[in-house]
Amino acid sequence: MDIDKSMYNNNIQQSSKYYIETYGCQMNVYDSELVAGLLEKCGYRETTKINNADAVFLNTCAIRKKAEDAVHNKLNSLQYLKKKKPGMILGVLGCMAQNLKNELLASKPFIDVILGPDSYRHIPDIINQRKINSEHWVDTHLSKFEVYDDLFPSRHDGVNAWISISRGCDKFCSFCIVPFTRGRERSRSMKSIYSEVENVVSKGYVEVTLLGQNVNSYRTKEGTFSNLLESICNISGLKRIRFSSPHPQNMDEKLIEVISNNNNICNHIHLPLQAGSDRILQRMNRTYNQKEYLDLVDRIRQILPGCSISTDIIVGFPGETEFDFEETIHVMKEVGFSNAFMFKYSSRPGTKASQYSDQIDESIKRMRLEKIIALQKILTLIENKKFIGEVIKVLVEKESKKSSNQWAGRSDGNTWVIFDKTNENIKDIVDVIIEEARGVSLLGKRKLEKELAYEVN
Ligand code: 5AD
Ligand code: SF4
Repeated sequence: MDIDKSMYNNNIQQSSKYYIETYGCQMNVYDSELVAGLLEKCGYRETTKINNADAVFLNTCAIRKKAEDAVHNKLNSLQYLKKKKPGMILGVLGCMAQNLKNELLASKPFIDVILGPDSYRHIPDIINQRKINSEHWVDTHLSKFEVYDDLFPSRHDGVNAWISISRGCDKFCSFCIVPFTRGRERSRSMKSIYSEVENVVSKGYVEVTLLGQNVNSYRTKEGTFSNLLESICNISGLKRIRFSSPHPQNMDEKLIEVISNNNNICNHIHLPLQAGSDRILQRMNRTYNQKEYLDLVDRIRQILPGCSISTDIIVGFPGETEFDFEETIHVMKEVGFSNAFMFKYSSRPGTKASQYSDQIDESIKRMRLEKIIALQKILTLIENKKFIGEVIKVLVEKESKKSSNQWAGRSDGNTWVIFDKTNENIKDIVDVIIEEARGVSLLGKRKLEKELAYEVN
């Protein structure tokens, strides 16, 4: 249902409407919610129809060229809407705004607003200024301190709430644009994260995902990431805690133990590998080698038996030989990742790797990507088949796309599980006995309490 029609009263009819389109990572989803909160404070209401909007914002991503191309295409198509509605505010937010400010201003002068990730506090001023004149507003200043501690994101109802715990990145992996677009790493105070989690739980969310470029390098005067987890996992009503992503370098024993000691912290770690070859890892500036990564996985599995481990992998990094690529395949098989986000290396101007002279042919990158996608499909199936016959805890999230008689929910390990509806509701955690692994999902049957009690007796 369109929100515009559902809220059909005079007040709202007269108020201005905003539309935000989000590209890229979950951090951008969170940032869009922050921007939505600011716009709503200015009296704007959300519309799901771009043509009805008085303000359109694209929250952009610069991590790969493909993400940038998608935004350029969208902006080109919005040029016509802007011509029809010259009073409409058109804004570009986020990483591309930061990175391509000058190019955007020169090639697309119809854009009104360009704001980098640390400049969203200007939004109320921009809205006010537009009432007087329609000058461009550009701010891509990066802050060492901005964590938007005191702002309230406007979220859609749901099961999971994204919560940003830190911003920026200091790791400078040689392929990555993030340290340039999001600036220096800074952690938000534990107190404000705690109260945001309490707040979302009081609004009915049962799961939170803590977000940061490197969640486990989180550190404030009040403590480390492990301390933060220990503190929020006691919030009553919070059924599940997830986080994304930790960096292998900062994965200490204490963190693994905190996950092990607390039932509501999910038994799943997304541990970006990027590459398996020591030579490539070094060129990537990843600060670990293959053995260290594999030892870490062993340690995780000793302390957290059955822990699902997923990853990010890049193929075709400059200088990657067939041998190097085989090393990535070797690690994939050794670990048995439950899932992987796999990418062709995309050269990002300004990064160290973009200056390397031994860039890899697009056709080789494509072949390598196809190869690891096919491999991961098999690995996911192998991992999922291990659950057949097991009873696992599933958080009911939504109706299955295939049938209104079935639910879809996620396991602790972040796998989608489909099962027939009985008497459960969305947001319940229920026991499901797994009968089949199909594609990336598990199929099962609800194990009812009566049956469980019978087994215990
Ligand atoms: N090319 C391809 N993939 C990239 N990533 C980051 N930068 C690049 C790039 N230049 C991937 C990494 C990272 C994920 C979020 O995006 O795998 O973990
Ligand atoms: Fe990019 Fe590396 Fe920082 Fe991740 S850790 S955001 S890949 S620089």
